[in-house]
Amino acid sequence: MARAVLDKTKRGWWKSAVFYELYPRSFQDTTGTGIGDLKGVISRLDYLETLGIDAIWLCPICASPQVDNGYDISDFCAIDPLFGTMQDMETLIAEAKKRGIGILVDLTLNHSSNQHRWFREALKSRDNPFHDYYVWRDGGPDTPPNDMRAGFGGSAWEYVPELGQWYFHQFAPEQPDLNWDNPTLRQELYRVLRFWVDKGVAGFRLDVIDQIAKDPDRKITINGPRLHEFFREMSREALLEEGLVTVGEAWGADTQRAKLYSTPDGSELSMVFQFEHIGLDQQPGKDKWDMAPLSLPRLKDCLRRWQQELHNCGWNSLFFNNHDLPRIVSRWGNDRQYRAKSAKMLATMLYGLQGTPYIYQGEELGMTNIRLELEQYQDLETLNLFRERTAQGYAPEAVMESIWARGRDNARTPMQWTAGENAGFTTGTPWLPVNENYLQINAEAELADPDSVFHYYQRLISLRKTYPVFRDGYFTLLCPEDERIFAYTRDTEQEHLLVVCNFSDEQAAFDLPEEYRDAQVLISNDSQPETRTLRPWEAWMLYR
Ligand code: GLC
Repeated sequence: MARAVLDKTKRGWWKSAVFYELYPRSFQDTTGTGIGDLKGVISRLDYLETLGIDAIWLCPICASPQVDNGYDISDFCAIDPLFGTMQDMETLIAEAKKRGIGILVDLTLNHSSNQHRWFREALKSRDNPFHDYYVWRDGGPDTPPNDMRAGFGGSAWEYVPELGQWYFHQFAPEQPDLNWDNPTLRQELYRVLRFWVDKGVAGFRLDVIDQIAKDPDRKITINGPRLHEFFREMSREALLEEGLVTVGEAWGADTQRAKLYSTPDGSELSMVFQFEHIGLDQQPGKDKWDMAPLSLPRLKDCLRRWQQELHNCGWNSLFFNNHDLPRIVSRWGNDRQYRAKSAKMLATMLYGLQGTPYIYQGEELGMTNIRLELEQYQDLETLNLFRERTAQGYAPEAVMESIWARGRDNARTPMQWTAGENAGFTTGTPWLPVNENYLQINAEAELADPDSVFHYYQRLISLRKTYPVFRDGYFTLLCPEDERIFAYTRDTEQEHLLVVCNFSDEQAAFDLPEEYRDAQVLISNDSQPETRTLRPWEAWMLYR
């Protein structure tokens, strides 16, 4: 079936779109370095077109010392040689466009690398014009300005003896925070955005964007007092074209804030990428490494709230996976006996909702988590965690359990293309081991199998383009207390959709509403959908 290409010059095109997050380092290597590159992405555009996606969120490809795999940028307007050249990037943008696919560049406007020219200048003296691009506090070497902690462990302050000052970093010390209170810095960042707009990108994924308006003296990092002012200025000064899409990563968003960030008048961002549902399987008040079983009623209530409160007054991203999260089929599905079935169930649940769905590379194949030895991990967050927790007295085995369940490298193993050497990812030594299950789970095998997870995603994407109810329908949750069944309806005046999913290894009863008795089955992960007693992990969508 020919794919309808969305007109990306019109505001709101993303409401009918499906996005694909691509982690270039692990996607396709063409040079034998063991690290994926832009030419590799270009070589796989046909695959992405076949899947049916509309836009690619390209994880950072800018020049970087790669302390945090590119989230530490040393030049916002240059391509890291690891991934290729600016010409490769231009070719990628043009080749993607030919296939109706837009490219979103991932920018870390909250911080730069400590190797960025601005920071190197800033270190020279307190009077240097770039010094105020960063956040400094005076003080002696022994006591940081306060006890704030950094995202990857340790203090959020780093001392520079030559200046007798501390600089602020919400992430690694190699990722100093930018000072958005400085208007010249803001103008520099807007010039960066314009640089990429002029290259022809469809928009931006804005890394930890709700953390830019910080006020460390009041220990404010997220949702600082000037945040909306900054968003509006950025949008006014740098994001002039109606069709440009901005996806704001916002760990601290609640529905009220999200409505402002993604206000339909376009004065702030196009959509939020928030994580409330993702944090529901951790112990209250603890962090993600302290896991707890998922309560399905809580997940349902959380998604219901987001669906209903943003309806007609905001726009959300729909996702279970990204490059920072474990593979969903290993987390909330069953990645052994019911791998393909539960992967399809999870997709059915998500793709019936209102918002813009994001596929994270390999999710469309049902790729799973991996268990590595400590020495094999590359992610600085994982390595810091092991160091910190074992020093605090945690048993190493317990820390490894957390890493296997939650570590970011679960998502970062190379893309599984074929059953050949290194899963077809590289002819060299992959920077992170390939998951051994590539012999069974790979794109080549799934493309050949009409019943694969890949083809299921392809059908879901095409359904979302066919029926306006996916974009517009109002969400109503059914059986909120049921521990196994996740069921909801989406309704417009003309169209009605019912989505029912069994989130368990057991059979589960469902009371089919009368009006859906003769409804059409749009899609199901079972060849004979059972509308009253669903088999383990069974899912379907009915339409009338
Ligand atoms: C975001 C990115 C993550 C990165 C962090 C610091 O959360 O998704 O990968 O480590 O920001 O830039």
